Amino acid sequence: MEINKLKIVIRPEMPSEYEEVNKLIYEAFSEQHGIDTGNFMMEHFIKERQKETFIPELSLVAVLENGRIVGEVVLHETDITTANGKITQLTLAQSAVLPEYRMQGIMRMLVEYALNKAKNMGYGAVFLGGNPKLYARYGFEPSSKYGIFHENRKKWGDEGFMVCILKPGALDGITGTTSYYGG
Ligand SMILES: CC(C)(COP(=O)(O)OP(=O)(O)OC[C@H]1O[C@@H](n2cnc3c(N)ncnc32)[C@H](O)[C@@H]1OP(=O)(O)O)[C@@H](O)C(=O)NCCC(=O)NCCS
Repeated sequence: MEINKLKIVIRPEMPSEYEEVNKLIYEAFSEQHGIDTGNFMMEHFIKERQKETFIPELSLVAVLENGRIVGEVVLHETDITTANGKITQLTLAQSAVLPEYRMQGIMRMLVEYALNKAKNMGYGAVFLGGNPKLYARYGFEPSSKYGIFHENRKKWGDEGFMVCILKPGALDGITGTTSYYGG
């Protein structure tokens, strides 16, 4: 894919690149939200990679022709707790683009690629807790619309807890709570 003359490939991160991706997350979040958030998001993701919910094929990086990683997005599994048990879907945990490569459509490329790949892998919905203005443009809408709420809704409210339906009807007849962090 090419944007603004930058040739970019989207592909799964490799274990040998974990360190580089960790630094990218730190740099991206520190620059926009402060050093504490940068550290928190990086440490959070390092732990997420250790869990069974981590899906290597859905931890994606945007790579330049020269091999430099300039952006990343990760979807991992999360459960909806319903009256009849748990149903596994996905959450978008975070997306990050290096400051000097922003506003060129790299996040859009990453998120659209990730959602399409998740759909092809058979998943029906992707949840997140994040900035509604940022994520509405990718098809995310309030999950409260579907009767699915974050378990801490009393503390956080419903705004920003969102879902993107990958397959029409994926959440039909399902109500319950989710407990993911991120977006
Ligand atoms: C948010 C971030 C990933 C965007 O990356 P990017 O490559 O510059 O985004 P894009 O160029 O693909 O922009 C995609 C769209 O989002 C918009 N956008 C970009 N950053 C935004 C922000 N912080 N808030 C609201 N909208 C934003 C753009 O205007 C663009 O809109 P359009 O598609 O209608 O033209 C990047 O700013 C970043 O790494 N920030 C720090 C980490 C972070 O906050 N991540 C998001 C929460 S997990």
